[in-house]
Amino acid sequence: MLRNLQSHSINRIILALRLSFLLFLFSSMLSIHGSPTRAHIFIYAGCSQEKFQPGSPFEGNLNSFFSSVVSSSSQVTYNSFAIGNGSSSPDGTIFGLYQCRGDLQPRECSQCVESSVNQIGLVCPYAYGASLQLEGCHLRYEHNDFLGKPDLGLRFRKCSRAVNNDVEFFRRRDDVLSDLQAANGFRVSNSGLVEGYAQCLGDLSAADCSSCLADAVGKLKNLCGSAAAAHVFLGQCYARYWESGYYDEPADSSNNDEAGKTVAIIAGVLGGLAVLVVLLSMCRKSAGK
Ligand SMILES: *[C@@H]1O[C@H](CO)[C@@H](O)[C@H](O)[C@H]1NC(C)=O
Repeated sequence: MLRNLQSHSINRIILALRLSFLLFLFSSMLSIHGSPTRAHIFIYAGCSQEKFQPGSPFEGNLNSFFSSVVSSSSQVTYNSFAIGNGSSSPDGTIFGLYQCRGDLQPRECSQCVESSVNQIGLVCPYAYGASLQLEGCHLRYEHNDFLGKPDLGLRFRKCSRAVNNDVEFFRRRDDVLSDLQAANGFRVSNSGLVEGYAQCLGDLSAADCSSCLADAVGKLKNLCGSAAAAHVFLGQCYARYWESGYYDEPADSSNNDEAGKTVAIIAGVLGGLAVLVVLLSMCRKSAGK
């Protein structure tokens, strides 16, 4: 009987610890975001519907693609791969690339790519094609050869709250955006209180990079109107701008941030309560023995 009681309490403690650990994970996930300098922050992912079979040639080639990108990313910020192309088993062919943001150090680039490799299989398990964008790097693979093909498709956009009637802000923003369109590869720009940067895939010519960014900038203006901060990601390039200080004060940046914080606090408090309740019930049991 006593033994039963004890193992019962132990089970409860384990359960409570697990629960609070999960809540801790959940709340820390919610609080990590906002700063443009944190390379590993998730932006978007896309997965094919089609899945490959475990143990297939495709899986073998995917694993060698992953190790190739990780080792290459400590040397260069962009690389592309065609694995199994022209081999006897075309089912396993993989085309893929990675691109680090142009201002990352080689070490930061390889850390970011390694983090992408670890995440892409979790976000898109067994996918025949997948892409993942983190703050600091982009990783993509497909079964079909997409390398070097023009792609202005919109992958992701995010627009913040609007700025009202601030002529100076819009003038500065337009300066930044037109400067970004002249990027060849990677470019940072600022004007007054507006900052921004743009990035193209490493295999684009200067002319193709500019025309991709012209499209991205057009979409930023059309889709995000008068946003204080916005980003648009196309197939081969992206452009972002923000009002200075925007990312330093995540509490002010949007209602979503506030909601996220509140949920994180509630989750933390609930986690604490769960532990407390179990401890109290144990104390009562040992006192009543
Ligand atoms: C794949 O192989 C074909 C035929 O050999 C070749 O024309 C093509 O350029 C290769 N693609 C890549 C990305 O290497």
